[in-house]
Amino acid sequence: MGEFTPMSVVRAVLPPRARRWLRRVYGARRFDGAMRRFAADPVAAVAPGNGLLAELIAAWGNPGWSAQEEYLRVCVTHALRSNGPTLECGSGLSTLLLGVVAQRNRSEHWALEHEREWSVRVGRTVARYGLSAVRLSTAPLKHYNGFDWYDPPLHDMPQHFALVVCDGPPTGTLGGRYGMVPVMRERLRPGCVILLDDAWREDERVVARRWQAELDSTHELVACKKPYIRMVVTGAAAPGLFKPA
Ligand SMILES: C[S@@+](CC[C@H](N)C(=O)[O-])C[C@H]1O[C@@H](n2cnc3c(N)ncnc32)[C@H](O)[C@@H]1O
Repeated sequence: MGEFTPMSVVRAVLPPRARRWLRRVYGARRFDGAMRRFAADPVAAVAPGNGLLAELIAAWGNPGWSAQEEYLRVCVTHALRSNGPTLECGSGLSTLLLGVVAQRNRSEHWALEHEREWSVRVGRTVARYGLSAVRLSTAPLKHYNGFDWYDPPLHDMPQHFALVVCDGPPTGTLGGRYGMVPVMRERLRPGCVILLDDAWREDERVVARRWQAELDSTHELVACKKPYIRMVVTGAAAPGLFKPA
């Protein structure tokens, strides 16, 4: 006979639907608590040894898709230092955390998302935490000349971004994440930091090399559990290839 644990008792007593409900309620409370602690002190949350980001990732519960701890840490750290609006390609947990930081900086955090269903989940959570600094833009990917990428509302967006977090579109997209530079390049002022996740994949490294060839920028591959690429725009932005309609 198996060992009795609180979970084995719950499993034996509750029907599957009630168990799922309980898990959802518990998960939401856990996430609420972690978000409250993050919003109270984002600087402490990114300090080495602080486990809050790991707790947020676990409680958010989107394994395989969510940004991981080291990448979230560097994104939040740069956002805390940034003196202008921030942009993110591919929404999720990072949208909430960067939204908290933008709110604190009295700035805006723009997130581009192409999946309507996913955007509804993210948007609902953004509203739940009252993150009015978040501007979530949802539209299907658009076909450009040789690649697919987001279709950002350029007319409504800030003229310059201080930080770009690239965690989308997902792998398998034509051209991968390449579109960020040709589409957004005029909005990347000198000093703008670009953080490209998933640099363990050759595809992302190729994209970063293409960006560097097209931008006046530095390029650093940060080796950690899940490597990412950090670039800093050093020169004046060259004219973009795509003008808003
Ligand atoms: C790598 S995810 C972005 C994750 C985000 N930066 C975060 O911290 O949670 C890139 C894209 O994958 C899609 N996505 C996220 N979660 C998903 C899921 N559970 N199933 C399918 N697609 C998902 C969304 O369109 C999202 O913009």
